[in-house]
Amino acid sequence: MTTKSPAKPVDERIQKRFDAALYAGGRPSAQTIRNFLNGTWLGEPLHVVLKDVPIGAWTVAMIFDVFDSIGNTREFALAAEASIAVGILGAVGAAATGLADWSDVDPPARKMGLLHGVLNVGATALFTTSLLLRRNKTRAAGRVAAALGYALMTYSAHLGGKMVYKHRVGVDRTDGLVFPEDFTSVLSASELADDWPTRAMHNGVPILLVRRGQRLFAMAETCSHFGGPLSEGKLVDGSIECPYHASRFALEDGRVINGPAVHSQPCLEVRIREGQIEIRKPPLGIRRAS
Ligand code: FES
Repeated sequence: MTTKSPAKPVDERIQKRFDAALYAGGRPSAQTIRNFLNGTWLGEPLHVVLKDVPIGAWTVAMIFDVFDSIGNTREFALAAEASIAVGILGAVGAAATGLADWSDVDPPARKMGLLHGVLNVGATALFTTSLLLRRNKTRAAGRVAAALGYALMTYSAHLGGKMVYKHRVGVDRTDGLVFPEDFTSVLSASELADDWPTRAMHNGVPILLVRRGQRLFAMAETCSHFGGPLSEGKLVDGSIECPYHASRFALEDGRVINGPAVHSQPCLEVRIREGQIEIRKPPLGIRRAS
């Protein structure tokens, strides 16, 4: 008798379908779109920037609505409408970037991210309804729809904050790693094979070592995106690809070549002395590739 494997959670199934749809047009073009939406080119998650547009615009709309309901002033009503329209435009951008980010979010934040997205869709629908009602001269009903949309958006923003501050989505996972100031031995040179990403440890901090012919590279082994172990990734040309979500970092300077990562990897100085591989933090401090 065959036993059925348990059904996958709904958030995982939606995530997989979204991934399949995005890559249907071919991996290179999908990767270019993803790099843009993730904010790989910006060095910060683009979603974090764009989400402020609807939050700000709809907050202003709420204020204009209060003034309008007190004085029944046409100028305030028009200003509220304009703010709602700007917020809707911003919400479209925030949704596209948020969806791209969420497609690589792992549990436990994945479920929360789905709820965050659904609530934002609801808020955007309510603000769109509000705009249509106002255009149909039913301003009072439009104000009610906007207030409901704002309540949804506020709770959703609370969840977004939780995803960042509790689950560390979008946070640089290499932040706070401590590397030695002086050259310190971390591995015997004979243990580092050519073209074989290798993990060494220093005071509990994993270091990625790569030997390519005469050249040696060292960087933080913890992926800046979600903490993936880069030593278990693969070498692609002059870069290392993370085994978790396939971010690629240049060995030369740690810059992000492909997202979803947006923060570069801290690179270290490396040398061989008396058969030992030694690493240290660059004397001028870790410099992040832009
Ligand atoms: S952990 Fe996500 S790409 Fe490395």
